[in-house]
Amino acid sequence: MSQSNNIFPNQEELVTSSDKENLLSHKGLVIWMTGYSGSGKTTLAYELERRLHDEGILTKVLDGDVLRQGLNKGLGFSMEDRTENIRRTAELAKQLASCGVVVICSLITPTNELRRLAENIIGEQHFILYHISTPLEVCEKRDVKGHYAKARTGEIKEFTGVSNPFEMPTNAIYSIDTSELSIDESVTYLFDDIFQLLAI
Ligand code: ADX
Repeated sequence: MSQSNNIFPNQEELVTSSDKENLLSHKGLVIWMTGYSGSGKTTLAYELERRLHDEGILTKVLDGDVLRQGLNKGLGFSMEDRTENIRRTAELAKQLASCGVVVICSLITPTNELRRLAENIIGEQHFILYHISTPLEVCEKRDVKGHYAKARTGEIKEFTGVSNPFEMPTNAIYSIDTSELSIDESVTYLFDDIFQLLAI
């Protein structure tokens, strides 16, 4: 087959990541939030997205619950399935960030190995880990989705913090406890950190 007929040419990209970042006038980045179910990750992710968007930043939230209905449908909560869940999400986040998008990932990501997997896929320059460190007791008391009650009776198996482990992060630089800070305070804290990193 002649080269002109090859629809998958193995050639350099004609438009680089920098070209795309320049188009948007900001850098691409992945903000990864780890924490128990009910710790406030999803709320913070969407509130932060709103704040960034209002400043002209192109964003995308990748939320564990949402992804598990589509891209990650069929994956459960064994360590093997959680690994695949994180791997796929990190690969997607990487692709988006390479287009200049600020990606906010909210997934439990319960072990340091899983957090490292995400960081290795995305690359440490483009990856910031936040521990949403709301204590388990508070998350369980909130029990927004009723999952903790079901986990305690055994109706839901392998539930993080109840019947499956959650390791305290060793590579998170930042930590936010939503039982101590309001959502507004937490988002301001996050926004102030992140916004300055996006300048080209
Ligand atoms: S992760 O461990 O693979 O990172 P992920 O963030 O995608 O988890 O999904 C967690 C969400 O799935 C929770 O917010 C909760 O709503 C739901 N869920 C259902 N079963 C479980 C379980 N056994 N452990 C943790 N979360 C569960």
